[in-house]
Amino acid sequence: MYKTLKELTDYADKLNMTVGAFNMHNLEMLPEMIRAAKETGLPIVIQTSVDTAKYIGYDVIVAVCKQLAANNPVDVALHLDHARDFKAIQDAIAAGYSSVMFDGSNLPFKENIAKTKAVVDYAHARGVSVEGELGTIGGTEEGISVSEDDKEYTRPSDAIKFVAETGVDALAVGIGTNHGQFKSKTNVKVPLLQKIHESVEVPLVIHGGTGVKEEDYAELINNGIRKFNVGTELLVNWTQTAKGYFEATEVNKSLRHNIIPCNEKVKEIVKHKLLLFMNADSPLNRGNSHG
Ligand code: 13P
Repeated sequence: MYKTLKELTDYADKLNMTVGAFNMHNLEMLPEMIRAAKETGLPIVIQTSVDTAKYIGYDVIVAVCKQLAANNPVDVALHLDHARDFKAIQDAIAAGYSSVMFDGSNLPFKENIAKTKAVVDYAHARGVSVEGELGTIGGTEEGISVSEDDKEYTRPSDAIKFVAETGVDALAVGIGTNHGQFKSKTNVKVPLLQKIHESVEVPLVIHGGTGVKEEDYAELINNGIRKFNVGTELLVNWTQTAKGYFEATEVNKSLRHNIIPCNEKVKEIVKHKLLLFMNADSPLNRGNSHG
C-alpha cells in the first residue's frame, strides 16, 4: 500500500525498529528496491532528491511507486529528500509524493522554524508528512572533507522549540554523520542523540547512513531513530557493478544484460539493511533467525 511517512514511522515506533529510506538515483533500481521490501515483509521509504525527481519526472516516479506497491504488495512511502525551495515541495505534493523534507538547516534558526512551519501547514492540509532538519550533516569524501569542524550539532533545547513550533512529523538530527561517506565510517554521538530523544517525542532521522557502522544501528534505534537514510552505498555499488559489466561486454549487447546485475546488487544491499533495521530488540525479531 502507498502510505505516508508518518504511518510508517508510527509502525516502526510500535515495534522499536527503524524504517529504511533509500535514495533512488535512477528508475532502473526502483523495482528491486521495492522487491527487497516485499521479501523482508518490511515497509520502505523510497526517496529522491529534487534533481532526480526532475530528471525522471515527479509524476512518473509517483505512478511507478504506487504500481509497484500495489503489485508486490508492500507498504511504501515516497519522500522528497532535502528540498530547500517551496516550489519543489509544491511540485512533489501535486504529483502525489506522500512525504517531503524541507531542509532549512542552512538558515538562521528562526527562519528555519518559520519556513518549515509554512511547509507543514501546506503539506498537512494535503495529507502529506513533513521531515525537518536542525543542525548540519557533514560533507562527503569526494571533494569535500569529512570533518568534525564544519558541523553544527543539534542542540536538544533547539529541538524542543523547533518541534513544538513547526509540528514536523520527523526530525533529521546532526549527530556526527556525513552525506556521501563510503570509504570510512563516522563516530556517531550517541549521548547527544539520547538527549535529543529524551527532549522530543517526534521520530528522529539519520542522514548519511552509508557512513554509519552497522554495529551502531541497534543503539541508534533504541534512542529514537525511526527513519534511516541510505543513498551513497546504493549509488556506489550500482556504478561499480555497471562499470564491470559495461567494460566487459560488446556494445551491441542488450542493455538488460548489464543493468540487471546492478539492480540486483541494490536489492541485496536494501534487503541486508532492512533486516538490520528490524532491531534485535523489536518484537518482530523475537524468535526470528535474522536476529
Ligand atoms: P548517504 O548517501 O551518505 O547514505 O546519505 C543518504 C541521505 O542521508 C540522504 O539524505
